[in-house]
Amino acid sequence: MSTTSSRGAPAEIRQVGPDDFPAVLRFFEGLSPESRRTFAPQPFDEEHARRIVETSDGAENVRLVAVRGGEVLGYCYFESRGPDLYPTVGLGIIDRAQNQGLGSRLMSALVAEARRLGKPGLVLTVHMDSARALRVYTKNGYRITGECSNGIQWEMTLDLDGEDSAR
Ligand SMILES: CC(C)(COP(=O)(O)OP(=O)(O)OC[C@H]1O[C@@H](n2cnc3c(N)ncnc32)[C@H](O)[C@@H]1OP(=O)(O)O)[C@@H](O)C(=O)NCCC(=O)NCCS
Repeated sequence: MSTTSSRGAPAEIRQVGPDDFPAVLRFFEGLSPESRRTFAPQPFDEEHARRIVETSDGAENVRLVAVRGGEVLGYCYFESRGPDLYPTVGLGIIDRAQNQGLGSRLMSALVAEARRLGKPGLVLTVHMDSARALRVYTKNGYRITGECSNGIQWEMTLDLDGEDSAR
């Protein structure tokens, strides 16, 4: 799996593996307080970096990174919650690589994986003031399906069920 950003240097998109622990920790360091606010909820610590690399199984928990020169620039995942529930999605790009097309490409690759694995759909939450994230999600087919976190976040859903998939 690889991709080239039209607005940046080439980046490879691939599954997270066990050896990615140090790179995932460095990725956390590349997220500003503002990016952490909108990327939350998740702790940006060693324990969580370990969880990311140890639970990346390419099936129930699909975790993709955008990598350039060994550096993780972006991370996108879905985590399954049971057979009848849509997996939950998250996406984050380090600050100096934002707005260069990487988030869109990571999300597109994640959706392709969900389709390939026969997932019925995907769901996420996004801060209402995060216009860039909203744009990326809408472009990838998500639609607003509710409000959460006391009206500061949208819930967005992508339905995949009924599509021609290998489910
Ligand atoms: C949100 C985020 C994941 C998007 O990834 P990205 O790589 O920066 O975004 P991309 O470059 O792929 O796409 C951005 C799109 O938003 C558009 N955009 C940028 N700023 C915008 C703004 N202020 N208002 C509306 N659209 C905007 C761009 O034009 C582009 O759309 P286009 O492809 O149609 O031209 C990334 O910026 C990020 O990690 N932010 C901090 C953490 C976060 O908010 N994560 C999302 C949690 S829900």
